[in-house]
Parts: sequence; structure tokens; C-alpha cells
Amino acid sequence: MKETEVTSAPDLKEARKRGRLASRSQRVADISPSPFLLTWGAGKHYYIETFGCQMNVRDSEIIQGFLERIGMTPTSDASKADFALFNTCAIRENAEDHLWGELGHMKQYAQARPGMIVAVCGCMMQLEVPFRIVRERYPFVNLVFGTNNVDAIYPLLEDCIKSRHRVLNVVSNPGAILEGLPSKRMEPHRAFVNITYGCDKFCTYCIVPFTRGMQRSRRHEEVIAEVRDLVRHGYKEVTLLGQNVSSYGADLEDNPDFAGLLREVSDTGIARIRFMTSHPHDFTDEVFDVMAERPNVMPYLHLPIQSGSDHVLKLMNRSYDMAKYMHLVDLVKAKVPDIALTTDIIVGFPGETEEDFQQTLKAVRDCQYDSCFTFIFSPRPGTPAYKMKNNASPEEIQDRFNRLVELTESITAERAQRMVGKTVEVLFLYPSRKDKTMMSGYDPYQHLVHVKGDESLAGQIRRVKITASHAHSFLGELADE
Ligand code: SAH
Ligand code: SF4
Ligand code: F3S
Repeated sequence: MKETEVTSAPDLKEARKRGRLASRSQRVADISPSPFLLTWGAGKHYYIETFGCQMNVRDSEIIQGFLERIGMTPTSDASKADFALFNTCAIRENAEDHLWGELGHMKQYAQARPGMIVAVCGCMMQLEVPFRIVRERYPFVNLVFGTNNVDAIYPLLEDCIKSRHRVLNVVSNPGAILEGLPSKRMEPHRAFVNITYGCDKFCTYCIVPFTRGMQRSRRHEEVIAEVRDLVRHGYKEVTLLGQNVSSYGADLEDNPDFAGLLREVSDTGIARIRFMTSHPHDFTDEVFDVMAERPNVMPYLHLPIQSGSDHVLKLMNRSYDMAKYMHLVDLVKAKVPDIALTTDIIVGFPGETEEDFQQTLKAVRDCQYDSCFTFIFSPRPGTPAYKMKNNASPEEIQDRFNRLVELTESITAERAQRMVGKTVEVLFLYPSRKDKTMMSGYDPYQHLVHVKGDESLAGQIRRVKITASHAHSFLGELADE
């Protein structure tokens, strides 16, 4: 391997820039692989490990689509791969630690297989420090790209193979959305459909606006065409994806809105629709009306609160207060009475006092969430909160976190218990991981349900009577026999 060749490195100043793009989405004219790559890929194996959120899962599906087009097939054994890729997440420090752990194992595999391509992509590679660490400390990583140039994988890979250089190419400014990229979906019955990319909210703790760039909405025709295609292929459920789906369309010339898009997706006749994530700031009542009117829009809402204290919400730049948040919760409960509500909460944000924390506990009691994703604040270099002073000690923060988890778990268990004896529709997906005589699926409230049965149930939506609750999953029996 010759000297490192850095074609392009990440630049946070560039990533911070916001502006209007001339065209938000463009069809790619041609993404055919070269004869060279077709020959190289035939019979070879790829291994992909994906960390982080659904955005990364969807990006990995696109990458798989590219790789399968050149004749590659998947392997679950990294040591046997010809191409091993890590699609990374930078949301918290412990997400980054996963990569360092995995690269530790990869070194011996790469040494044992000369010619193996070890690649790293995703959110971490958009950041200056992790990029530099990969470049300097992991010389066996020979291909790096970012979230903004997934579509360039063919030329980058070809360059890497032919030149035997390391190819490190990260683009900080996202271009227009490219439509028509190949994709190999992970599941046959449920699919993720991007509706927006990036985020312009700049919550002070969050790295996403830097790793994923400015908000770009897909044209609604493209979203609908993708959902229709999924329906034709037998898909039963779509999840519309965006960091902030409620601000869908704000960056498009004709200003379509999320409620309108949701209606159009509902009109395609797909059996189930979900969406994530919703920022309370941009949420309109009309979205709740669509949820109430349309039986194929699932009664499930993930509405991150982050903190129950107005003082902390302000420091976080969340742009809503508790009065606004509780108004939304009351409204959705009134319009969609069986709504399942979930949230994200950060504990130990700089400046959070015990009193602020008590307000978070109160909010959790008031909202009665079905489930909460709880995190300890993790300072991310480059974000404003990185430099904010934290008066609470790590022990105090851990103690707050433990108290919060105790409360959220008890509410989750209590709410789950109320499901026992009810009959719900379950979309069956795959055999249960623990017991192969059971099939697993999800009810409309995004509860995981296990039922005795075989793979013939996969892809079917069946009525199930819930017989027992394990708080985060349920047991049931088919009710329509
Ligand atoms: N776009 C989504 C969230 C994406 S990140 C939204 O706004 O709701 C998922 C969650 O990770 C966030 O809701 C937040 O609770 C948490 N998170 C983000 N940055 C974090 C940080 N620096 N430390 C701890 N948790 C963080
Ligand atoms: Fe991060 Fe806030 Fe954007 Fe969500 S809305 S991705 S938390 S900056
Ligand atoms: Fe992680 Fe990037 Fe998603 S930082 S949470 S993978 S947008």
C-alpha cells in the first residue's frame, strides 16, 4: 500500500453552512458499474456493520444495492469478507467507541487477507477528530467516505482497488438529493422511506446537523413513487424517515407539508404507515387529524421531550416550552385516544439542577409514555453544549439517570399490563430470536409480540389476543382461528 491519499477531509465550518440549493432532488442519469468493477465483484463477499439510527440503516441498504449490482454477496463473517464496511454513528461517545472496538478485531483479518478492503463511512467520518484517528491510527482502513457521498462508492472503490492507495474522501457540503440509487432492503415486509435528509435545528447538544448537513426534503412525487413500488412488491409497512419529519417541505419551492404528504402516502393503500422523528416545534394539529382519520396511519407517536424544564429546553435550543409540549400531548390523546406515546430524554445536560430534573420526572408522570429512550448527556466536540459548564458531578448525574429509568420502566410496565386480554393486529415478521417455535411481529402501537407459529405467518397481519406482558414485549395467541 502506498502513502495515504486524502482526496477530501471533513470540515465542520463547511458542514455548518446553510443555504438554498438550486434543485432539491435529481434523478441520477447513470450509475452503471464499470466492466472493471463487475469483474472484480463477481463471487466476492461483503460484510456491513451498521451503527446508529434508521438513517444509517437506509444508507447501508443503498450501499448493499451498489455492491450486489457488481455481483457481490453478503457474509456474516467479517474475517471472510473481501469488503468489510462499518457505517458509523457519532451521536454519543459510546456510539463512537463501538467503531474502535470493531476496528480492533479487523486488524488481524485484514493482515490475513491481503487485498481485503476495510472501509469506514457514516456520521463519524463527517467529523474532523474521528476521521483523523482513522487516518492516523488505523492504516489498514483503506477506504473512507461520508454521509454525503454514498452515491460515489463505485469510483471510490475502483480507485482504491486499482491504485492500491488509501482513498479517504469526505464531502462536507451535501449536494442535491439523488433519486434512483440502487438498494437492497434488509426486510421483505417493512421498509424505511426517507422523506427528509439533514437537520437545521441545531439543538445545542447535537452533532447531527454537522454530520448530515442542511435539511433537504424529497419531492412528494418521489416519496409516493417509492411507496407505490413497495406496495407492488408486497410490503405491508413503511416508516417515513427524517430527523424532523414535521418540518417536511419547508425547504421546497411549493412548500408541501407533512400532513399533506401523510395523506398521500395513506392513499397508496399501504397497510401500515409510521413516521419518525417528530420535533414538537413544527408539529401541526392537522397531522393528528390525519392520524385520527386514516386507519393505515398507526396510532404511535415518538415525540422527543429531552427535558421537562423550560430552563433546560432553552439551553438546549429546543424552541418549545413545556406548555407547548403538553398542549401537543393533550391534543394527540384527545384526537387519537389509543395513541402510544414514546420519547427521548437527556439527563445531565449542562446547567440542569435537581429542580430541573424533578420537572423532567413530573413530565414523564404527566405524559405516561409507553416507552422512553433515556440518555446521559455526552459532550460532542463542535457543538455549543460541548463548552457549557456542568455543575452536577458524574455521580449526581448517574443517580438522576437511575431514578429516571426506574420511573420510566415502572410506567412502561404498568401501561403494558393494560394490554393483557386485548386483541390487536400483529404484522408478523420473523421467527423469535429466543424460541424458534414462535413468530415475532409488531402491533399498531409498535409493541413486540411473540406468538406460537411458523414462518408461514411472515408478512401476514393477523388478530392476536395478548396473553402476557413482559413490559418490553408480549406473548399472544392467534385470535382469528
Ligand atoms: N432528530 C431526532 C433525534 C436524533 S438523535 C429528534 O430531534 O428527535 C436521537 C436522540 O439522541 C435525541 O433525541 C437525543 O435524546 C439523544 N442525543 C442526541 N445528542 C445527544 C448527546 N450529545 N448526548 C446525549 N444524548 C443525545
Ligand atoms: Fe439533533 Fe435537534 Fe436535529 Fe434532532 S432536531 S437531529 S436532536 S439537532
Ligand atoms: Fe447517529 Fe448519524 Fe443517526 S450520528 S443517530 S447515525 S444521523
